[in-house]
Amino acid sequence: MVEIAYYSITGQTRRFVSKTGLNGYEINDADPFHEMGRSFILIVPAYDDDMMDPVVDFLQYKDNAKNCVGLAGGGNRNFNTLYNHTANDIAKGLDVPVVFEFEFNGTNKDVENFKKVVNNFGTK
Ligand SMILES: Cc1cc2nc3c(=O)[nH]c(=O)nc-3n(C[C@H](O)[C@H](O)[C@H](O)COP(=O)(O)O)c2cc1C
Repeated sequence: MVEIAYYSITGQTRRFVSKTGLNGYEINDADPFHEMGRSFILIVPAYDDDMMDPVVDFLQYKDNAKNCVGLAGGGNRNFNTLYNHTANDIAKGLDVPVVFEFEFNGTNKDVENFKKVVNNFGTK
């Protein structure tokens, strides 16, 4: 099964991952240089670009960018056209799909649907 890596600033994305019961790796502000070593889906909340430096460092480390097979975005629809722009921007840069979107820490339905996406994802 594909791995999960995620970033969280105020805890919503962390809570989403925790509700899925999946064993996700949380990108660490103090030391984002962690090698995933295999295919993974990256879940990111949407923020201004300069708040995503740890995610950029993480992706630039070793083969992480190459192993990232898809993005999932956590955001807030009140941001309208900027809804989940971070996941969309990173996906575009890496040329991989956005496989899932949710608001805040996700509804129960989001949690179920995301687990299906992960289960159906073959390893690259
Ligand atoms: C300063 C700030 C900027 C944000 N910008 C966006 C945005 O551009 N688009 C969006 O969809 N959500 C935006 N959000 C909402 C967060 O992405 C959303 O609350 C997310 O669930 C936070 O995840 P986290 O708690 O894991 O950090 C913003 C929130 C804050 C506090």
